[in-house]
Amino acid sequence: MSEIQNIQWFPGHMTKTKRKIQASLKLVDAVAEIVDARIPESSHNPDLKQIIQSKPRVVLLNKCDMADNKSTKQWIEYYEKNNIHALSVDCRSGKGVNGFVPMLNRVLKNKIDAMKLKGMANPTLRVMIVGIPNVGKSSFINRISKQTKAKVEDRPGVTRGNQWYTISKNFELLDTPGVLWPKFDDNTTAEYLAFTGAIKDQIMDTELLAMRLLELLVKIKPQMFMERFKLNDELLSSAGDSYDLLNIIGKKRGMLISGGEIDTERASVMILDEFRSGKLGRITLETPSELNKREEL
Ligand code: G4P
Repeated sequence: MSEIQNIQWFPGHMTKTKRKIQASLKLVDAVAEIVDARIPESSHNPDLKQIIQSKPRVVLLNKCDMADNKSTKQWIEYYEKNNIHALSVDCRSGKGVNGFVPMLNRVLKNKIDAMKLKGMANPTLRVMIVGIPNVGKSSFINRISKQTKAKVEDRPGVTRGNQWYTISKNFELLDTPGVLWPKFDDNTTAEYLAFTGAIKDQIMDTELLAMRLLELLVKIKPQMFMERFKLNDELLSSAGDSYDLLNIIGKKRGMLISGGEIDTERASVMILDEFRSGKLGRITLETPSELNKREEL
């Protein structure tokens, strides 16, 4: 597995990235980690805790428009039970984004109160976004900065090149997110990241990936799955394995190659595309109750 990881993230690349995040961390009071609401655990980098140390962290479950509502609620409860403030957001529509500043005010209340006690009437605090590629970091920054419109220019004491958005009367957001590497030590995490497109397809066999996704979909959302691909119980039970299922779906969609054979490669790409774009419906692949791979959030 480490070999796969190294194809996209060389150790040198990871060290450079970590240093960059650590440099930005010095400038902020809190970190907002964006994860994919469909795979909150797999899209979280467990090294983050060590990188940010005691800096307060909040979690944004993004792409909640594509995740199952009930599961998203379970995740939020789970984070809160573990004393981590979490918020579900949809950066495409902007839903939930308004809850970001109130959440920061709650998390940093003690710090704000202490600053006020020291005589600062309106203290300004700073926050940065972090997350693995493709979880929606840029979308979130664009969305929240568009809503507030104000950009703070370079100021004395702040490293040149750092730009800040004023997102409320007491919060500024660093305009550049910290990009974390996806971390996977097990096949399930790697597969989940590949299903959502967080790691590139080339490193995994497309057909195998689509077959694994089909197995999961039949298990998690059988009704939704059968409706989308116009299958019935009889057809489903006629499939001995997920390769048969892939063939049945390919045939249903008319994906044939010369000689009447089914183009399973094309069918695989189509299934993955439909999942990634949310066309298969609102699906969360992992729930807190299944957590057993990692001890810490
Ligand atoms: P990153 O900075 O973390 O790498 O992620 P980025 O914002 O570039 O978002 C990655 C993809 O996820 C983009 O799609 C973006 O539109 C989509 N996305 C971000 N937030 C949400 C969300 O809340 N819901 C949904 N459904 N999608 C979201 P793309 O296909 O790469 O580009 P495009 O379709 O926006 O052109």
